[in-house]
Amino acid sequence: MLFLLTLMTAAGLGNAAALDKKQAASSSVVPQYFQTSPQIYPGPTKTAAIAPFLAQTNPAPIGTLYSPNQPLETAVPISGNTNNSNIFQLMGQLSSYFPNPVGFGVNEYALPPGANITTAHLLSRHGARYPTGDSSVSSFGSKIYNVTRNGTATWTGALSFLNTWSYTLGAEILVARGRQELFDSGVLFYYNYGHLYNTLTKLVSRTTTQDRMLKSAEYFMAGFFGFEWPQNVTLEPIIEQPYFNNSLAGYFQCNNSNNYRSTAGNNASLVWENIYLKNATQRLRALSGNYNWTVADSYNAQTLCPYETVAYGFSNWCSLFTYDEWQGFEYSIDLQFQGNDGFLSPTGRGVGIGFVEEFYARLQGHLYNLPPGSTNVNTTLDQMNNTFPLNQSLYMDFSHDTNIYSILTAFGLQQFSDKLSNSSITPNRNVTISHLTPFGARVVWEQITTPQPVKAQRPKNSNATMADFYNPGNRTSYIHMTISQRTVPLGFSYPECGQRDDGWCEMGAFMNILSGLLQQASCFGNYPAASWLNVTNGVPVTKRHLLGGGMGSGLERRRNSDMWYDL
Ligand SMILES: *[C@@H]1O[C@H](CO)[C@@H](O)[C@H](O)[C@H]1NC(C)=O
Ligand SMILES: *[C@@H]1O[C@H](CO)[C@@H](O)[C@H](O)[C@H]1NC(C)=O
Ligand SMILES: *[C@@H]1O[C@H](CO)[C@@H](O)[C@H](O)[C@H]1NC(C)=O
Ligand SMILES: *[C@@H]1O[C@H](CO)[C@@H](O)[C@H](O)[C@H]1NC(C)=O
Ligand SMILES: *[C@@H]1O[C@H](CO)[C@@H](O)[C@H](O)[C@H]1NC(C)=O
Ligand SMILES: *[C@@H]1O[C@H](CO)[C@@H](O)[C@H](O)[C@H]1NC(C)=O
Ligand SMILES: *[C@@H]1O[C@H](CO)[C@@H](O)[C@H](O)[C@H]1NC(C)=O
Ligand SMILES: *[C@@H]1O[C@H](CO)[C@@H](O)[C@H](O)[C@H]1NC(C)=O
Ligand SMILES: *[C@@H]1O[C@H](CO)[C@@H](O)[C@H](O)[C@H]1NC(C)=O
Ligand SMILES: *[C@@H]1O[C@H](CO)[C@@H](O)[C@H](O)[C@H]1NC(C)=O
Ligand SMILES: *[C@@H]1O[C@H](CO)[C@@H](O)[C@H](O)[C@H]1NC(C)=O
Ligand SMILES: *[C@@H]1O[C@H](CO)[C@@H](O)[C@H](O)[C@H]1NC(C)=O
Repeated sequence: MLFLLTLMTAAGLGNAAALDKKQAASSSVVPQYFQTSPQIYPGPTKTAAIAPFLAQTNPAPIGTLYSPNQPLETAVPISGNTNNSNIFQLMGQLSSYFPNPVGFGVNEYALPPGANITTAHLLSRHGARYPTGDSSVSSFGSKIYNVTRNGTATWTGALSFLNTWSYTLGAEILVARGRQELFDSGVLFYYNYGHLYNTLTKLVSRTTTQDRMLKSAEYFMAGFFGFEWPQNVTLEPIIEQPYFNNSLAGYFQCNNSNNYRSTAGNNASLVWENIYLKNATQRLRALSGNYNWTVADSYNAQTLCPYETVAYGFSNWCSLFTYDEWQGFEYSIDLQFQGNDGFLSPTGRGVGIGFVEEFYARLQGHLYNLPPGSTNVNTTLDQMNNTFPLNQSLYMDFSHDTNIYSILTAFGLQQFSDKLSNSSITPNRNVTISHLTPFGARVVWEQITTPQPVKAQRPKNSNATMADFYNPGNRTSYIHMTISQRTVPLGFSYPECGQRDDGWCEMGAFMNILSGLLQQASCFGNYPAASWLNVTNGVPVTKRHLLGGGMGSGLERRRNSDMWYDL
């Protein structure tokens, strides 16, 4: 302070504004948990080896045959795509965000007259990204390059492009499309809920320290508030690293989610890949000369399509596969999530339960009393009201795909308990990952207050009056949940909520349900790996409580699907 005063005298009044800025910077010490710059624990941040040049590389500018991957317009026709459908919406968690086109069994309704939305809770995924540096697609890329150079492979026909191809993707961080997804999501969230923000207050919004997570939150805020968003929001990047508690990256403190006990999804996917990619593998092998093209190669090739598309705007890999094979690709990812992270995984609930506890605390308006270490929440942060405020009308949290899916599992949402077959596509399933956790995914819970209890059946005619909407009674509160902009009917999972047209659940009933979910987790302990369809409820068949003792063998390789598996 003395230093600044001296400086001010010397510099004269002309520089007062500049000095104000310096003073602010030097006198305010940001606690580590609010620090966004310089970044801590950002993870790898490798950018691509080449920059996009779509105007030059696009072999087929926009035509009439095909739905483009907006705003990336490539018009390569896909064999068997008779309905002019969009293959980019069949890519599981590698699809870019689109509103769920089929919903979850109920329609959407306008708020009844006199009802108010009082609070909105957002759980968002990050945007489109590069693959992980040591992913199977990068070693596939290296192998292709090697067998091309040393002459084992002679690429012909549709694979001719491989004669000059090499793997050039970056690692981990957001691509331009991903930045856009989060910006757009912030814009939409503003249109939907901007009114709930009190301009006199500053919100706390939680993300993780990983580069793409922090930046996704920042792009979202820029979309919602504009570039001045730091006046409106304090970001809280929770440390995402092994051995740190983090409900937005729960796998790090859920040992069994990182080992063989919860890889049933990968195993099921492998069985399925050998079925749905049999034809493609034969087709591509015939174009590979002496190179023995395998099913794993086909799967890696297919996986490169979405990654290269979001990085460069176009990928030669996409048109190698038929429409049916893209449906098979989506299903392989649905199997992975369901078996590794969902209802068919013994750690599905364990990874997601921390967020459910936090959500419960926010609805109650007071903290729960958890012994430290009992779940994957950071109890230090959750017990301070500047890092875990309970009085906001907007909550915005950012997380990862598998973590969000485990959170849905921990909520016990039975519509996502589909017992998927590993040998044929289960039709009309709710577990379609591109509809649940694509890039830029969003889960929203609204708290709604109504003047009287809302009838379970909504009036059908447009001239309905108040009496057509309400039963006699007092003010009532509800929860309304959406995923990808479509209502999740809570009565389907929780009979206490009733079978309602609007899918809402009365708050008292909902709180009772949540309180009953909090102990259902099994991250530790020795139980056998499940065979397919043995585990069906997100917890081990023989549920064990070994918290505080009998820890697992420590973290193995992290198995977030955002980190691709070796096949
Ligand atoms: C490709 O060749 C390089 C250099 O010889 C080697 O380091 C790398 O491991 C090879 N990649 C594969 C997948 O075999
Ligand atoms: C060519 O490269 C592949 C992949 O690195 C390797 O497995 C194979 O042995 C090599 N073949 C020759 C003839 O060098
Ligand atoms: C952000 O905060 C500033 C300063 O309080 C306020 O003027 C502005 O209206 C806020 N932005 C929005 C979008 O509410
Ligand atoms: C909780 O977060 C704080 C602030 O980042 C950190 O210092 C602490 O190590 C974290 N605790 C656990 C158990 O992860
Ligand atoms: C493979 O191709 C054959 C012949 O075209 C076809 O009958 C069969 O349905 C295809 N199988 C798959 C899994 O696509
Ligand atoms: C090609 O690879 C497949 C699967 O990895 C294997 O079963 C087959 O024997 C290989 N064929 C040749 C000719 O090496
Ligand atoms: C936050 O907690 C502190 C200490 O427990 C308390 O004094 C303060 O009133 C609380 N602030 C709010 C806004 O609840
Ligand atoms: C999907 O979930 C809804 C309830 O949300 C249910 O009515 C429907 O039967 C489910 N679909 C399938 C195929 O399970
Ligand atoms: C909805 O908000 C309006 C305006 O603030 C208020 O007058 C009304 O009482 C609220 N209704 C309910 C059911 O809380
Ligand atoms: C409301 O409209 C329906 C037709 O849509 C009509 O049958 C009904 O009589 C109308 N009711 C009232 C109260 O006007
Ligand atoms: C409405 O609230 C009043 C006062 O709290 C209570 O006496 C009454 O029983 C309530 N009515 C219903 C239908 O719950
Ligand atoms: C499921 O696992 C349990 C415990 O490992 C085992 O006893 C049971 O036989 C298995 N059931 C099926 C259908 O695989």
